[in-house]
Amino acid sequence: MEYRIMLIGCGTVGQGLLEILEQKADYLNDRFDFEPRVVAITDKLKGSVICQEGLNLKSVLKLLEEGKALNDYPGVREKITGFIEPLDLIERVEAEIMAELTYTDIKTGEPATSYIKKALRSGKHVVTSNKGPAALHFRELKELARANQRQFRIEGTVMSGTPVFHLVENGLAGNEIKEIKGILNGTTNFILSKMELDNLEYDEALKLAQELGYAEADPSADVEGLDAVAKVVILANALMGGKIRPEEVKRQGISHLRKTNVLEARKAGFRYKLIARVKKEDNRLTASVAPEMIPLSDPLAGVMGTQNALTFDTDLMGQVTIQGAGAGKIETGFSILSDLLAIHHSEKI
Ligand code: HSE
Repeated sequence: MEYRIMLIGCGTVGQGLLEILEQKADYLNDRFDFEPRVVAITDKLKGSVICQEGLNLKSVLKLLEEGKALNDYPGVREKITGFIEPLDLIERVEAEIMAELTYTDIKTGEPATSYIKKALRSGKHVVTSNKGPAALHFRELKELARANQRQFRIEGTVMSGTPVFHLVENGLAGNEIKEIKGILNGTTNFILSKMELDNLEYDEALKLAQELGYAEADPSADVEGLDAVAKVVILANALMGGKIRPEEVKRQGISHLRKTNVLEARKAGFRYKLIARVKKEDNRLTASVAPEMIPLSDPLAGVMGTQNALTFDTDLMGQVTIQGAGAGKIETGFSILSDLLAIHHSEKI
């Protein structure tokens, strides 16, 4: 089955997705009868291209690698100058699915939320790795998708392509989730790991995380816990039926922790971890993000470096823990593929 896909944003995640679709085209077709056709891309920095027959992804990736504009894609019928505003593109291009891959604005969720609403209203499924719309407007967007008989899918918003939403919606379906807790920010886990294992001071470890590209553009989003807050809100609202807003989450970051705190905890048989937690009590949800001393026997204590992990406390299965990448070009690109395939599987039924 063929799907026409438009990409809004073509940064790291978009390029990761294009690489996967290019490399796995035959496999996806043979194994799943899934034939994605990328028909349009628009990106503020990289320009825009439309090709209703489907872009040659090798050529697109080559342009991007050479630092050229998408507008230089050869042989298209409609030559575009500059950048097409996503809201215009959504109207102009025929597609079954929009992948919304622009940057996260956790305060307003914009402009991504407007793009998503427009796409759903015009009959397109939406997949996104953008935390803003998912954290601030999950219910509204899910409802809008339902009203338009389309899907709004967000696997990449938490733990990149590690299957958090697919796990709960499919594998654990039938369980009641009583609590979700875990490590949802790779930068802070990397910093805490470096302080303990490599004897680095907090500032040195943060600098290294920035050099390696793990931290957000403004690292306070990581070290003050805001990134983890956005993710725990998404989990609460998407998986536990909550209506929590980011400002309702009790939050403490790790910027006050020093190497001595981390080493003392370790001596006593504990590890400091920035734990995001959402808990159901008397049908009420409470959420928090704060450093906690975790006993070494807890699976979360063994999660080191940039890895993320979540433990689901369920009524039928007890505790189930999943560990994996929380970020990365291919890993987040895969999250988009996993949502595209989920749409495909449901369309086939
Ligand atoms: N800065 C984030 C992290 C990236 O460190 O986990 C993934 O959302």
